[in-house]
Amino acid sequence: MSPVIHVTGARPNFPKAAPVLAALQARGIEQMLVHTGQHYDDKMSEIFFRELGLPQPDVNLGVGSGSHAVQTAAIMVGLEELFIKHQPPLVIVYGDVNSTVAAALVASKLHIPVAHVEAGLRSFDMTMPEEVNRRLTDQLSDVLLVTSEDAIGHLTSEGVDADRIHFVGNSMIDTLLAHLDSFDVDKARAAYLLNGPYVVATLHRPANVDSMESARELVEVLHQIADRLDVVFPLHPRGRATLEAAGLLDHQRVHVVDPLGYTEFISLVRGSSAVVTDSGGVQEETTVLGVPCLTLRPNTERPVTITNGTNQLVTTQSVIGALDAVLAAPQTGEHAVPELWDGKAGPRIADVIENFLRGRS
Ligand code: UD1
Ligand code: UDP
Repeated sequence: MSPVIHVTGARPNFPKAAPVLAALQARGIEQMLVHTGQHYDDKMSEIFFRELGLPQPDVNLGVGSGSHAVQTAAIMVGLEELFIKHQPPLVIVYGDVNSTVAAALVASKLHIPVAHVEAGLRSFDMTMPEEVNRRLTDQLSDVLLVTSEDAIGHLTSEGVDADRIHFVGNSMIDTLLAHLDSFDVDKARAAYLLNGPYVVATLHRPANVDSMESARELVEVLHQIADRLDVVFPLHPRGRATLEAAGLLDHQRVHVVDPLGYTEFISLVRGSSAVVTDSGGVQEETTVLGVPCLTLRPNTERPVTITNGTNQLVTTQSVIGALDAVLAAPQTGEHAVPELWDGKAGPRIADVIENFLRGRS
């Protein structure tokens, strides 16, 4: 049989894909890893391959940045040629980035089945490019691998057959749990001269960082937080220009750094008093680490991190009050973890995929 093809391309794909590749490898299933090149800076891409033990991609399409249409189209053209050449029995896609939807669209037009890891999440906010990508990818997928029970309801209400949906848990959390021993909070603190409590901030959503108006609001809030305690902000390249122009660097206790490698990033998160973010993955990682998470968004596609985790949605008006409450609350160390976020999603996904492939051969 020809190899199954994994399509990755952007930072959040890599920690989701690593456990799936490892579990399929352990079962001797032939596979091929494609990197679209959507993300390309060392710290947005290659560093994850080094740290997470991912194999080097068999192919890198090198598409780079562009408008949604330019980027998605370039990925589609590259993948079409590749899929026709290799005729994979299955294409596996991850999350909700442009590389995900592009791969699903190309595969389904070539009548190649698609497996979607992290299917069924919904923010119900169609102004988010990720929501468009998720909905389309799910409609095109044959195997829908979900991280939480709410996703099953979303998919069935959109007409997806129940027998295509598999509740397997969260492969990104497999990666987190597998690396727990390598997170060194003291080392990470020392690297940024953090002697007292601190907050980690990550912000990159277009709604938050693309316009000067929202960038100014964010910077004001980050400075207010820095009046209370140190803020470490690994800055995603998307927001660098607007946030810096809005005065981000004009506060001594805001430590702006380049995007961090996975180990250093999670080490800092683990040792922090709270995280202020608009990231999808970080809402999940803080939930498992038991670190309070303040999500600067009007909605989340990951409500389980609120009901069974440490997450709360905040606005630029409410975030300071929420942070003060978090800082004043006693830390018991006890916290809930969502169902099946247990480090075994990769093998469960591999079981589903193996069964699917067996059924087709
Ligand atoms: C993408 C995903 C988003 C995800 C985020 C994770 C889409 C539509 N969005 O957003 O869901 O949360 O990745 O990080 O797929 N850039 C660099 N170097 C890089 C990559 C990007 O400088 O290695 C800069 C470029 O100026 C580029 C901008 O960042 O134009 C945005 O990159 P892009 O991949 O288009 O979207 P993200 O905002 O990264
Ligand atoms: N991450 C990292 N270094 C950073 C910021 C993030 O290693 O400086 C990791 C973190 O594990 C996170 C993942 O990259 O969950 C994906 O992050 P991002 O916020 O870019 O994507 P999203 O989850 O919002 O799509």
